[in-house]
Amino acid sequence: MTPSAAQPAPQPVHLPTTRHAVFIVATVHHGEAHHAAVRAWCANIAAIVRSVGQRLPDARLSCVIGFGSRAWDALFGAPRPAELHPFREFGPAERRAVATPGDILLHIRAEQADGCFELATRLMDELRGAVTVVDEVQGFRYFDQRAVIGFVDGTENPSGQEAIEFTVLDDDPEFAGGSYVLVQKYLHDMDGWNALPVEVQEGIIGRRKLSDIELDDATKPSSAHNALTVLEDENGNEIKILRGNMPFGRPGHGEFGTYFIGYAKSPQPIEQMLENMFVGLPPGNYDRLLDFSTAVTGGLFFVPSLPLLEALAERQPGPAPDTGDPSAAPPLPSEPAAASGGSLAIGSLKGASRYE
Ligand code: HEM
Repeated sequence: MTPSAAQPAPQPVHLPTTRHAVFIVATVHHGEAHHAAVRAWCANIAAIVRSVGQRLPDARLSCVIGFGSRAWDALFGAPRPAELHPFREFGPAERRAVATPGDILLHIRAEQADGCFELATRLMDELRGAVTVVDEVQGFRYFDQRAVIGFVDGTENPSGQEAIEFTVLDDDPEFAGGSYVLVQKYLHDMDGWNALPVEVQEGIIGRRKLSDIELDDATKPSSAHNALTVLEDENGNEIKILRGNMPFGRPGHGEFGTYFIGYAKSPQPIEQMLENMFVGLPPGNYDRLLDFSTAVTGGLFFVPSLPLLEALAERQPGPAPDTGDPSAAPPLPSEPAAASGGSLAIGSLKGASRYE
């Protein structure tokens, strides 16, 4: 697909990664006044991005907004994106892709941290009182685009036209120009990881650490990260997703992480990758990166096209559609959750009810 006058313009999902990013996940409070505030916000986002971006012409400032399944129904009603559903969990208890609360995702990117900070401030100002922020992560580029585990991350991403083709819906009359996005916040056991010989780490990722060259098929284990996450359709063509992962952390607190964010035309390929990683292919042949990485959040969102994002301000939800899934749209919270103090600590999730 080539973006053209015939297609609604997508949000800037397909941009190359920047030096800085901010990821914010928020839940929307129950009540029509709060819902109306979020809808009104939808019409102002583009203008706020222009205002901040104009002051930083070299910053390549951008913002992508996504909505979770139950928020879509409560805020906008029908029609709803066909494949939007609550985050599906994968894997056994000791190695689980968990679902956590999240109604709105903000993915802010810029070459400058001040650009991300200012845009996040302005966008969140307009939502104050209507939402509770449940997670906020400030990501940064680490040397030559490495994850904190020391491997270059993002090499096999599609780029340019290919990135658009794999991420932007083109054949859906209601939602053309839209995308699905899945996020997970991972925390790494860096002591355990660093205790592994480099050759073992390379077998886990499937690439050489220093040079980023892919291991040849004879050397690469079938459980390598890049063996389990490569998908093909029935004709042998690769199905790609677009990742915008960023390292984050607080060294003083011993916190080292990767914020995973994957865009695609459908949640299906991303979920298949999760199943391959967490359950294994075949089951049991799982991704050993998960022995050193714990997913502490998980959310699935729909990213409407730019014109639809603005038009959502005028939507009225009406009665919730029957999706056939009794757990699909639990009520939105009526009270803000206890202040989380910013970054979501792993301890705060212990015993928390799953969000599915
Ligand atoms: C702990 C979190 C993760 C880390 C640190 C990580 C790191 C990496 C690294 C270093 C590579 C190799 C270089 C590259 O092609 O980008 C890679 C590849 C890839 N990862 Fe991840 N990843 C993580 C989670 C995920 C998840 C959750 C998914 C999908 C659901 C995923 C999907 C992929 C894909 C599709 C590739 C490219 C495979 C290829 O075409 O060779 N990753 N990842």
